[in-house]
Amino acid sequence: MVALLRSWAVTLKLAEDEARRWSRAGWLHDALRDAPEAEMRRWAPHVDGPVELRHGPAAAARAELEGERNADVLSAARWHSVGWEGWGWTGRALYCADFLEPGRSFDRPARAALATAFPDDPDGVLRDVVACRLTYAEAQGWSLPPESVAFRRAICG
Ligand SMILES: [Fe+2]
Repeated sequence: MVALLRSWAVTLKLAEDEARRWSRAGWLHDALRDAPEAEMRRWAPHVDGPVELRHGPAAAARAELEGERNADVLSAARWHSVGWEGWGWTGRALYCADFLEPGRSFDRPARAALATAFPDDPDGVLRDVVACRLTYAEAQGWSLPPESVAFRRAICG
């Protein structure tokens, strides 16, 4: 995840502070990704639902306690599984990287193509990622969190 964010930041020639925010958001995300459910629950006791929805708020809570103060980095980690319409590009990039990282086993060729296209067309790739993620969730019969619905409206129209 961090490697993908870094490669995008380099290709996009991001300003150093923005590139660092992208990397920090990726590290925070990865730090708790494989944590046991009990640890996630400890960091995010007020979040209901499946563990995938808990790991973002858990990562943000832990980061805050460890001294992370940047609002873009914290909101990126907190909402990365759901989407949030208040994001700038740190959150949007983390949302895309979470879906496009090569470690996931489904739909590899299509996701790799989107990951490659990201630096040339971040807006277009973000739209595709939002559509893919939410279409899949709806096909599974999952009810979408209101933040996801608002994010889709903001990004896809
Ligand atoms: Fe994640």
